[in-house]
Amino acid sequence: MSRWVRHAVASLALVAHCGTVLARADGPVSYVREIAPIFTQSCLGCHHPGKQKGGLDLSTYAGVMKGGKHGSVLVPGKPAESHLLESIQGADATMPKNGDPLSAAECARIERWIRGGAPDDSPAVATEVQSPPTYSAAPVITTLAYAPDGQTLAVAGFHEVLLLSSTNQQITARLVGAAPRIEAFEYSPNGHQLAVAAGAPGVFGEIQIWDTATARAQHTYRVAFDSVYGVHWSPDGTRVAFGCADKTARVLRVEDGRELVKFDQHSDWVFGAVFVKNGQQIVSGSRDKSLKLIDATTGALLDILNRDSEPIQCLARHPREEWVLFGSEVRPRLYRAVAKADNIDPNADPNAVREFEHFDQGITAVAFSADGKWLAATGSPAGEVRIHEVATSQRKATLRGHAGLVFGLSFSPDGTRLATAGYEGTVRIFDWAKEQRVAQFVPVPIVAAASAK
Ligand code: HEC
Repeated sequence: MSRWVRHAVASLALVAHCGTVLARADGPVSYVREIAPIFTQSCLGCHHPGKQKGGLDLSTYAGVMKGGKHGSVLVPGKPAESHLLESIQGADATMPKNGDPLSAAECARIERWIRGGAPDDSPAVATEVQSPPTYSAAPVITTLAYAPDGQTLAVAGFHEVLLLSSTNQQITARLVGAAPRIEAFEYSPNGHQLAVAAGAPGVFGEIQIWDTATARAQHTYRVAFDSVYGVHWSPDGTRVAFGCADKTARVLRVEDGRELVKFDQHSDWVFGAVFVKNGQQIVSGSRDKSLKLIDATTGALLDILNRDSEPIQCLARHPREEWVLFGSEVRPRLYRAVAKADNIDPNADPNAVREFEHFDQGITAVAFSADGKWLAATGSPAGEVRIHEVATSQRKATLRGHAGLVFGLSFSPDGTRLATAGYEGTVRIFDWAKEQRVAQFVPVPIVAAASAK
């Protein structure tokens, strides 16, 4: 089960959803697929948990039903008594405030949904925070990361991120959220927060912000109706950038979840976005093969940095230089993240800095050491991890012994250790320069199947 295959399965689920919508044109209206997208598109800018104009949060079914500061805005089965409908319909529509009115078709769909009793088909997975999951076998580990102080190793589980002491591997906290699948996470520059990109493919994607000292969720923002990937902090720790299976790259304000940028000029899934130029710009990488430079304030496309090569599957920012590296289906490629001069030969690839060794069937993860000297990359052949010197692209070490693909790579802050994990559900720590494994463990508590509740 490669990352690519898992994505492919998710996209099939999407196609199935669209089919359902068509087939049911006369049946009950789906809140998740037909109503919530209208609110997301036209209303959430002013009606989300961080900004509840009129006291109204339209980002969840529960919020819609709760209503605003004047009480309920929707009465199931009774469109005429539903203030929400009145606010969007007809010549004296007031919502979206100062924005383009909804189309007649959208209003009719909302009316039909209310008339039909405003049914809730939000998926069961989208429930609130649960108690820590129990495991009867080691789960696939999609990502891991050392904290900036090197004391803690964060590891993705199912529905949760586990924080472990990096010295004795004991669990110090379990960050359990509603989203079953953790796709990516990153510590804030000061290490006080962890931003997690998680979701359920084809259903929802969310960004969770955790306080790492108290292990409490500070914010959970539902941001899309599909998986989100590759979350990255701005250098000042106020914003995060990420990619999404709905082909967008986005920037979110951490404090209130406000969407500052929604960039929609990719034609395929966006697997990551990173800040460059001291937070003024972002670079997004997509399966559409392009690496795009975007203004982080206006969302304007500034340049396409690469010449199309291969679908981009993962992304990392060089910690010192204005460089972005991506892993493709073929090899890691390093690019300068600066807009190109005009009048350049369209066949030239002037921003290419360097490329690294070829992998047979694609790259699943890349990571830089904190000083930017070393690059770790992994992919197929299954689970081989290679460490290259960034300056020369020479391979310096090869770490073997993984059964199956590796999805998570992280250097310890001092650069001497590399932690790896993936399909097997086992974390390994290497003294990479010596190609020696110094620890190996399953990060989650395993409950014997017979005694599991
Ligand atoms: C640009 C901001 C903005 C957008 C976008 C917006 N609203 Fe509002 N909405 C407001 C403000 C501000 C209020 C508070 C009342 C007012 O000032 O009119 C409000 C109030 C409401 C209320 C009344 C709440 C109450 O109990 O008084 C409803 C219902 C509502 N909005 C529905 C919507 C819907 C549906 C959409 C999307 C189609 C939408 N709004 C988009 C700004 C916005």
